[in-house]
Amino acid sequence: MRHPHTRTAPTNTTPTRTAPIARRGRLLGAVTAVLLCAAGVTPIALTAPAVAAPAEVPAEAPALADGLALTPPMGFNNWNSTHCRAEFDESMVKGIADLFVDRGLKAAGYRYVNLDDCWALPERDADGKLVPDPARFPNGIKAVADYVHSKGLKLGIYTSAGTRTCNSAGFPGALGHEYSDARQFADWGVDYLKYDNCNNQGVDARSRYTTMRDALKATGRPIVYSICEWGENKPWEWASDVGHLWRTTGDISDNWGSMLSILKKNLPLAPYAGPGHWNDPDMLEVGNGGMTDTEYRTHFSMWSVMAAPLLIGSDLRKASQATFDVLGNKEVIAVDQDPLGRQGTVISSEGGRWVVAKEMKDGSRAVALFNETAAAQRVTTTARAVGLPAAPAYTLRDLWQHRSLHTAGTIAATVPAHGTVLVRVSAGSGWAAHPPAVGTGLDGAPFVTAGTPATLTTSVTDLGRTPATRLTVSLSGPQGWTVRALSPTGTAALPAGRVLRIRWSVTAPAGTPIGSYDLTLKTSYRSPAGIHADSAVPLTASVVVPPPTGTSYLGDLPWLSAVNGYGPVERDTSNGESAAGDGHPITLGGAVYAKGLGVHADSAVEYYTGGTCTRVTADVGVDDEKGGKGTVAFEVWADGARVASTGVLTNAMPARSLTADVTGAQVVRLVVTDGGDGIDSDHADWADARLSC
Ligand code: GLA
Repeated sequence: MRHPHTRTAPTNTTPTRTAPIARRGRLLGAVTAVLLCAAGVTPIALTAPAVAAPAEVPAEAPALADGLALTPPMGFNNWNSTHCRAEFDESMVKGIADLFVDRGLKAAGYRYVNLDDCWALPERDADGKLVPDPARFPNGIKAVADYVHSKGLKLGIYTSAGTRTCNSAGFPGALGHEYSDARQFADWGVDYLKYDNCNNQGVDARSRYTTMRDALKATGRPIVYSICEWGENKPWEWASDVGHLWRTTGDISDNWGSMLSILKKNLPLAPYAGPGHWNDPDMLEVGNGGMTDTEYRTHFSMWSVMAAPLLIGSDLRKASQATFDVLGNKEVIAVDQDPLGRQGTVISSEGGRWVVAKEMKDGSRAVALFNETAAAQRVTTTARAVGLPAAPAYTLRDLWQHRSLHTAGTIAATVPAHGTVLVRVSAGSGWAAHPPAVGTGLDGAPFVTAGTPATLTTSVTDLGRTPATRLTVSLSGPQGWTVRALSPTGTAALPAGRVLRIRWSVTAPAGTPIGSYDLTLKTSYRSPAGIHADSAVPLTASVVVPPPTGTSYLGDLPWLSAVNGYGPVERDTSNGESAAGDGHPITLGGAVYAKGLGVHADSAVEYYTGGTCTRVTADVGVDDEKGGKGTVAFEVWADGARVASTGVLTNAMPARSLTADVTGAQVVRLVVTDGGDGIDSDHADWADARLSC
């Protein structure tokens, strides 16, 4: 498979932190950031604003004493699939309830069937009561609640802590009507309220949300209370005894960038979550079509490891089997629903390789090995690093493959682009029944020149306490590629802790376009007792062309990868923020340049230099087109080393001339950071940028 080489995402920075598991009462560490390198070479560190770093957290935040939501709520909400379209109606809600039962989702733990905005008429009746829209709910809400209850499920509803809800049609909000609306919900048999933030008239959030808490309590009916003020007033600091869950971010949408940015905002809030009071990174998009199955598994894995509410956001009446397979994975759901109620914490994050671990009630740890980058990466941690006690070995349960192995301590996987391997690791004697885990991957940088054989080396390491016997390894490339082993591809027994390295000659057909390509490394072996185990991991190879001898304009050369704050990186024009080719002539301090690159912070453009280049030169600065706005900093990296940097430049400054010595580097990376103040208006030009080889 060929991956596009240009990635556009406003979320291309990765917090970097290696820390012990955060505990309640600890300050979270400062956060730096990393731009990933698609080819898997050394990442570069950038400074970036910390993501919502919490202050000191009380040792035990008080929770509502009603015994509700002791594990994160699970259910359905129509918003992500229907918004206010007409298909949101009684038959949809009943259909979802039916499917919860028929497709095993109720058995898997899903309970709440929740109505979002637009269920009501725009005006209250003469008595000030809310009126269900007769076109959508001809039998009223009570009839729907009765139906849902008859299936052993629960019903949720929505309104806003304002004068009107969020939809532009404007449905009545509950501000000033808290007690009567709560009473009406209770009378209908509502079990869950999502309370939004639109049209709040500037009234203090804490007081608005507390009034509704008291109104719900006054009904005497147990109602789960979901605070939805988008994290604007840091509800994690004050709402643990106001609501059972609180949104921590703005709305999710059905794409990778949105999911990723929400994930990064929610992760640092781990110390605030616990039974009865949860961080809510918004509802699931699984099945809505805007992400790949790999990305949806990441979404579901990471929400579970964060103990997030699991509210299905796709119309299950149209859902594929693949969607049901993700949403119905009971081993993953068990991570989310663990009664200890810990939100997983970041153990390490570097170069887009994340390790997030969640302490479980039985003492085990759920460990997510998450690869944010666009190329397969090896993600590694240890049992000790995730908080497990010393032990001779550990059982390693793969929660997507539903297989158990054992490890002497290393927890490692080669994870596909945008993928997550989710394992549950436990100490204890049971490990001996399982085959050893093996760590497989690629040694070194996988660069291939089309038409020329390249030598790649793979390794298989026995991570367990027993040998991997009758081990065989195969490597396959995309169609048309030839792959030939240059050394033996198996062994009768690989002892514990030992590595089998295999060299391969890999040839991409002449004319193969520059880009990233997946190879598959398959390993098959047996435990000493004869139990079969195998693995298939993706490896990403980059097809490159050697840089031309002499001095070339970087705007004329193909890049290895490009990430950019808005829109694509432009050749020979400034950045226009959305489509390719929408920039303007590069202009710095009144001078117009014919050649260069136009980027938008945060940005990183990588070139393959193959060890044969010496120098990068450019005039750099913020393009004049933003009229006085924008602050950025430019950096040049040679493999893992920063070899030039400008410090912060503003729009008012003239072009800065920059020279970087890149002698011997395999990869040169041009980086633009936001100058520490967010990426607004950060149109950055690498004017006249040249590479000498
Ligand atoms: C806000 C909320 C969403 C959804 C819509 C409905 O945007 O954050 O989750 O409820 O309102 O209008």
